[in-house]
Amino acid sequence: TILVLDFGSQYTHLITRRMRELNIYCEMLPCTQKIADLDFKPKGVILSGGPYSVYEDGAPHADPAVFDLGVPIMGICYGLQEIAYRADNKNVIAGEKREYGHATLNVTKHSGKQEHVDRLFEGLEKDMEVWMSHGDKLGKLPEDFVVVAESGNSPYAGIAHQEKEIYGIQFHPEVTHTKKGTQLLKNFAVSICKAQQNWTMSAFIGKELERIRALVGDKGQVIGAVSGGVDSTVAAKLMKEAIGDRFHAVMVDNGVLRKNEAKEVKEILTKGLGINLTVIDASDRFLDLLKGVKDDPEKKRKIIGNTFIEIFQEKAKEIAEAAHGSDKAGDIEFLLQGTLYPDVIESISFKGPSATIKTHHNVGGLLEGMHLKLIEPLRELFKDEVRELGTQLGIPEDLVWRHPFPGPGLAIRIIGEVTREQVRIAQEADAIFMEEIKKAGLYRQMSQAYAALLPVKAVGVMGDKRVHAQVIALRAVQTTDFMTADVFPFETKFLSKISTRIVNEVDGVCRVLYEITSKPPGTIEME
Ligand code: XMP
Repeated sequence: TILVLDFGSQYTHLITRRMRELNIYCEMLPCTQKIADLDFKPKGVILSGGPYSVYEDGAPHADPAVFDLGVPIMGICYGLQEIAYRADNKNVIAGEKREYGHATLNVTKHSGKQEHVDRLFEGLEKDMEVWMSHGDKLGKLPEDFVVVAESGNSPYAGIAHQEKEIYGIQFHPEVTHTKKGTQLLKNFAVSICKAQQNWTMSAFIGKELERIRALVGDKGQVIGAVSGGVDSTVAAKLMKEAIGDRFHAVMVDNGVLRKNEAKEVKEILTKGLGINLTVIDASDRFLDLLKGVKDDPEKKRKIIGNTFIEIFQEKAKEIAEAAHGSDKAGDIEFLLQGTLYPDVIESISFKGPSATIKTHHNVGGLLEGMHLKLIEPLRELFKDEVRELGTQLGIPEDLVWRHPFPGPGLAIRIIGEVTREQVRIAQEADAIFMEEIKKAGLYRQMSQAYAALLPVKAVGVMGDKRVHAQVIALRAVQTTDFMTADVFPFETKFLSKISTRIVNEVDGVCRVLYEITSKPPGTIEME
């Protein structure tokens, strides 16, 4: 394991990401982690960048025991300054100007032990393109260190201990702007730390199944909500593999799912994947509560979120009572959650001297009032790794690549009041749009697509008759992070075909628009 201590840089998780790409197991922990509390011995430690100045009051510092571990250490940016500051707190000074952007790094001659420095720069050009992003810099070299690289603006762009495998670099090897940055990280982890490149998905599955079985025990039971999305399905399948029917999946049909969604998900999860699943058709309860709600989209979200929690808790109680007392199974003690690594990073990232741990958004409400412990088998994985895991677990390709679907479902795609009739129109239009997108082979080129229903009527002529009917707005976007999004550039011919089909096949619609607002200023959903 390579240990990454996070000092709060926006790039820290990329270090972990690069290590994974190299098949090296890596753990990121906040910089305040006490070394004595670790339950593993790392083969090497990386000190990340961070937004602070090491000499400021209250600036974060690593546990000094890091330096007594006797393993190689590499400091990146703030991490370099931390190493220098530890040696003597006068070594780091404020730079005259921030250095931000591309720089050319020159690997220089030095008077230190040749071999351990050579290993760090193995296979790299003598003048390599690197990415800099820092305000402070070293004013003076720490004792026993030598300069091993410099750039135009940074005479101490790379330093190394004369004897020990301790390195500091001012640039960021983890960002793609540093050409060959991954090679440098590999040199550190593999050639210097001797970390093994054996972190693979099948190794992960084996290890995770063992961990789940040990945690849950021979009789323990687990309950979890599934939606048909990739994260909850992969998590559920993993639980099924680990503990069989002692995992109870619950899917709530809230009446605002896609057309046939509940039926299809049930089919795949039970028949296809053998998961012990209960589907609760609660559409009447949700739609009754949504009656008359039209001006405040947040109110729709609250009703759907709270009702979901109520129903899930009721069901959990029922399942627990049914299971209780049987000799094969004990109490339900755990709640499965498909939390991914980006959510974990979000909650454990070092956020300043008063670091607070944030709980994951969906969990809070569910855990209140249920005395359950969380089980999060995907918490070490990035989205693309979850997809790979899903594929290895035999989950159908279609489901593995499914677009995300929001918890409040069609309710935030139907502007205004959500009624059964409005849901029907939105579902039918959406089904045609999705069918054509898939048929044209475009599904994986976009991140999300749907048909929204506007609460206005327009005039049209169909057959020989004048009609007065509603308007559908199609939306399709491309995004990598869902924070910003671009509109998908369909060809006009494709859009015309969708329009013709929707107007002809969906009762109550006479016009179709294509929504062309990017995010920002729009959002991906309509409400
Ligand atoms: P917006 O509309 O904010 O959407 O640009 C960004 C991403 O978040 C999803 N989304 C939600 N997901 N509950 C969810 O589970 C919600 O209330 C919710 N609102 C938006 C949206 O589908 C997109 O992927």
